[in-house]
Amino acid sequence: MQGITELTIALTKGRLAGRTMELLGRAGYTCEEMADKHSRKLIFRNEEQKLNFFLAKGPDVPTYVEYGAADLGVVGSDVVLEENRRVYEVLDLGFGRCRMCVAGPPEARELLDSGAMLRVATKYPEIARDYFYHRRQQTVELIKLNGSVELGPIVGLSDVIVDIVETGSTLKENGLLVLEDVCDLSARMIVNQVSMQLKARRIREVIGGLREQLEAEGRK
Ligand code: PRP
Repeated sequence: MQGITELTIALTKGRLAGRTMELLGRAGYTCEEMADKHSRKLIFRNEEQKLNFFLAKGPDVPTYVEYGAADLGVVGSDVVLEENRRVYEVLDLGFGRCRMCVAGPPEARELLDSGAMLRVATKYPEIARDYFYHRRQQTVELIKLNGSVELGPIVGLSDVIVDIVETGSTLKENGLLVLEDVCDLSARMIVNQVSMQLKARRIREVIGGLREQLEAEGRK
């Protein structure tokens, strides 16, 4: 009898990894080793199910998957869009829901609608470029930041920002508001293109198991 095909799964460090492991657990895929919160290990294994898991920074997950260091990955669709790697996106996991928005102070609305040359601060230059150049057909100056993007309009670095809005409280507490919706976001499962062929059976089984679990939970 042929053994089970080994799979390696790259997870996005933090809350997304926790939600992913919970969902995998409900679908019957577990990893006891990962439960130890004090461990400094980076890679975890379930010997019986021949599954390896590792934790990576979100933007690195599509890189590991494209190069085949991981067969599967779980990452936000913001990162999938921004990184634009050669991977298959196979499943919307339904959690980590939020929106990508253009936001700014109330007075930026007029500026935005006037078509004037705007300064846009963002952690997501590719998403922002695509939105302004292709959907709004507006020329803008993009300024890449690495976090706390809401500071941009407050300190006069930019007119608006393109950023993730979840509860909206960061915007509100900083006197900013949503000016435009760019797209909805959620956690996605991505797959290495070669693994999808070579490990088709096992990968389909995992995706199918997760999809069934999500559908069953959706029906509740
Ligand atoms: C994200 C995002 C917003 C905030 C939105 O930042 O960039 O700043 O969360 O959430 P809210 O609508 O619920 O307030 P994150 O906390 O990841 O940190 P960062 O600003 O350093 O990127």
